[in-house]
Amino acid sequence: MRLDKYLSDMGAGTRSELKKEIRKSGVSIDGKIIKDPGFSVDTSSHVVFRGSVIAYEEFVYYMLNKPEGIISASEDDREPTVVDLIDEPKRKDLFPVGRLDRDTEGLLLITNDGALSHRLLSPKHHVDKVYYARVSGLLTDSDIELFRDGLVLTDGLECLPADLKILSVSGDEYTSEAEITVREGKFHQVKRMFSSIGAEVIYLKRLSMGPLTLDPGLAPGEYRRLTPEEMLSLDI
Ligand code: URA
Repeated sequence: MRLDKYLSDMGAGTRSELKKEIRKSGVSIDGKIIKDPGFSVDTSSHVVFRGSVIAYEEFVYYMLNKPEGIISASEDDREPTVVDLIDEPKRKDLFPVGRLDRDTEGLLLITNDGALSHRLLSPKHHVDKVYYARVSGLLTDSDIELFRDGLVLTDGLECLPADLKILSVSGDEYTSEAEITVREGKFHQVKRMFSSIGAEVIYLKRLSMGPLTLDPGLAPGEYRRLTPEEMLSLDI
């Protein structure tokens, strides 16, 4: 990889800034001073720039607690996206693994690892996603059975069996709280499932995706790197 790209990928600056600085001040690569921005550097090389060692990380993984009101996209001309919330030396190639609706909160993985994203999202893999939902209406045990048997949405679409756990039912407010586990990720999946039983989702938050569970220490809008244990659990 070109030296200027290596440094820019690691957030040291833009390629054009870096070209000038490399020509002027040089970079130590495996103990030799290199002043050619096009020098071919190996990602396992020992690179020292501005007095600090810069190791190359090919993939990065962030757990974000998505706040409501932000769109799940990499970039948008008109409004900020979930990737804009990751305030780190920018890598241009970050994207969210799947989408949460604008008004949904909770766990969203942000990465540049396309293979991992494919594994988590591929319909073949049926990765469990757990959501907390507050809905209008009073959920009952017969709804649990409907979800377990595989709902048919109003447009005829058949859902895979899902687990519905009723957490509370409020007759006064005419609302219910539930945890729902789905194994697919169709557009507005959870909202459409509830809608098919006559309930409307008032609030939705994703709690987990496969082995990853939302860190309760992350307020909406906050994020952190995945821990080594979380990476292992994802086979990274
Ligand atoms: N299901 C929905 O309806 N919305 C989401 O954001 C995620 C799952």
